[in-house]
Amino acid sequence: MKGVVLAGGTGSRLYPLTKAVNKHLLPVGRFPMIYYPLYRLRECGITDVLIVTGRADLGDFVRLLGSGLEFGMSLTYKVQEQAGGISDALSLAECFCGHDKTIVILGDNICEDPLVPFANAFRQQQSGARILLKEFSGPEKHQMAVAEIERGKIHSIYEKPKYTNSDMCVTGIYMYDHLVFDLIRTLKPSARGELEITDVNSLYLSKGLLHYDILPGWWEDAGTIPAMTKINRILSESPQLVAGMEKVYLQRQDHSL
Ligand code: DAU
Repeated sequence: MKGVVLAGGTGSRLYPLTKAVNKHLLPVGRFPMIYYPLYRLRECGITDVLIVTGRADLGDFVRLLGSGLEFGMSLTYKVQEQAGGISDALSLAECFCGHDKTIVILGDNICEDPLVPFANAFRQQQSGARILLKEFSGPEKHQMAVAEIERGKIHSIYEKPKYTNSDMCVTGIYMYDHLVFDLIRTLKPSARGELEITDVNSLYLSKGLLHYDILPGWWEDAGTIPAMTKINRILSESPQLVAGMEKVYLQRQDHSL
């Protein structure tokens, strides 16, 4: 299975922090934001990972992460020329993914739970997609996609709805088979001019190929100041996650001290 971390976009909700620095390179706890999704992928045994970001920032990612060798990963990079949306960024992964299944994580998504059981369920799944949901109070206030569930099945998904009765957010952790690239080719830009990932998930849903799991632990999209503040607080109370990450990311430096 391959991994894709999407780290483009404009980071406008964190301006001016993101005026000179890409959002995914900002500090969260003691690590740059992008270390978190990479850690979760590595934990699943996914070490072959593509990072997509904008032209202005690619060099910074390479300086930070290099080939990935020092933390046991093999990293590839692609430039997204315009912030054309999550599906547009994902379309750049087609050659990299080939016919392999892929886990896609938005570079600003940070969660408490290892993704291992969900990745394993997806490995068992013959085809289609699998998304991770999280219960959230008032998701419409938080500008996310929302899934409406009926009798245990996803009935519909809406991107940032104004009103909804559902309290189930669609997190930025997605698993796709190679059909995803054909589906992206059929998309039209949304009202905000982006190729939406929610449209891809809705297409899988209409084909009866969309499965889901619910994340039990905390999950945050670190793309806003309140969310970043909250994550920093949670991390200060999560020594296990921090220790696990230190082992992966700091081992080499510790040895050379
Ligand atoms: O975090 C979960 C939410 O993420 C989902 O519930 C929504 O369905 C999904 O649209 C997304 O909403 P956001 O408003 O948070 O999307 P944002 O524009 O912040 O982009 C999320 C990540 O995707 C960001 O960290 C970088 C990447 N991205 C985004 C765009 C627009 C790209 O790589 N390229 C892009 O063009």
